[in-house]
Amino acid sequence: MKKVLLIEFSQSGQLSEVLRSFSRALLDAPDVRVHIETLRPRQPYPFPWPILRFFDTFPEAVHLDPPQLEPLSLDARERFDLVIVGYTVWFLSPSLPITAFLKGPQAAELLRDTPVVTVVACRDMWLMAQERMKELLAAVGARLVGHAAFTDEAGTAGSFLATPVWVMSGKKGPHLGGLIPRAGVHPEKIRGAVRFGARILERLRAGAALDESLLRGLGAVHVNERLISSETFIRRGLRLWGSLLRALGPQGAWVRKPVLLVYILWLVVMILTVVPLGVLVKALLTPLTRKRVAAQKAYFGAPSGSA
Ligand SMILES: Cc1cc2nc3c(=O)[nH]c(=O)nc-3n(C[C@H](O)[C@H](O)[C@H](O)COP(=O)(O)O)c2cc1C
Repeated sequence: MKKVLLIEFSQSGQLSEVLRSFSRALLDAPDVRVHIETLRPRQPYPFPWPILRFFDTFPEAVHLDPPQLEPLSLDARERFDLVIVGYTVWFLSPSLPITAFLKGPQAAELLRDTPVVTVVACRDMWLMAQERMKELLAAVGARLVGHAAFTDEAGTAGSFLATPVWVMSGKKGPHLGGLIPRAGVHPEKIRGAVRFGARILERLRAGAALDESLLRGLGAVHVNERLISSETFIRRGLRLWGSLLRALGPQGAWVRKPVLLVYILWLVVMILTVVPLGVLVKALLTPLTRKRVAAQKAYFGAPSGSA
């Protein structure tokens, strides 16, 4: 009997839906036991999010400052043939409950020397979050063998408003007669995720060691090279503002609120200027930077390979 551990934290249920489809073949296989571990923060995060509560979460998210979790439902000494870490992105970082698990006392025991596949479902900015994920996994001695990314169907521009409106209203839309498109990952993409579980099942049954070829050739990730510099730039800003806000007080402290309002303004200006500018400069420089961009795409697409 092969054993797979699936770790998840999803607020609306979208990531869970992606993960159920991703692991469908494993869940249905009589010779595989899948343990689903749903993380439970001791102090639940709201959904939908009040606007200030939403932004007040970023300092801790970008500084990987973990909240407390309820105890896990499994014995950390158990060994698994594969661990699937499903996560969403909060402010270019893994969501805080996932960070808490990976920095918690049991992650090292559960994940050491174990093949791990990461599955992300987010708006469309996951590159920096996956860098943090790689660091957190390396710190506990896990072996990253695959990564799959599912992004919102509205694309970079369309999801800029659609995703925040969704997480702050609880409604996916479309809104305003289609002016704000539907948020979330396209259902077709979610259904198509069954191909990954089928590949994993095949490899597990073959008794082959799970290595970095596990999800290759399946279109597991698409690296939008135009977002690399914008994500890097925005993350730097988030870390700076985050340090300031953390110095002022803990999450929820009233002294953070006025600074948060200034930060929100800064963020909107950055997203409306730096992101399109970054995209434009990247497009103009494409003929000169083809080699470098190909190397970046290969780096961020690893280990599954960018489609
Ligand atoms: C606090 C917060 C911050 C977010 N920041 C990002 C982000 O930086 N990049 C991104 O692509 N998506 C971001 N999202 C969208 C989420 O990654 C995800 O798509 C959405 O919250 C739905 O996930 P769920 O399965 O937990 O409901 C953010 C969502 C929340 C709630």
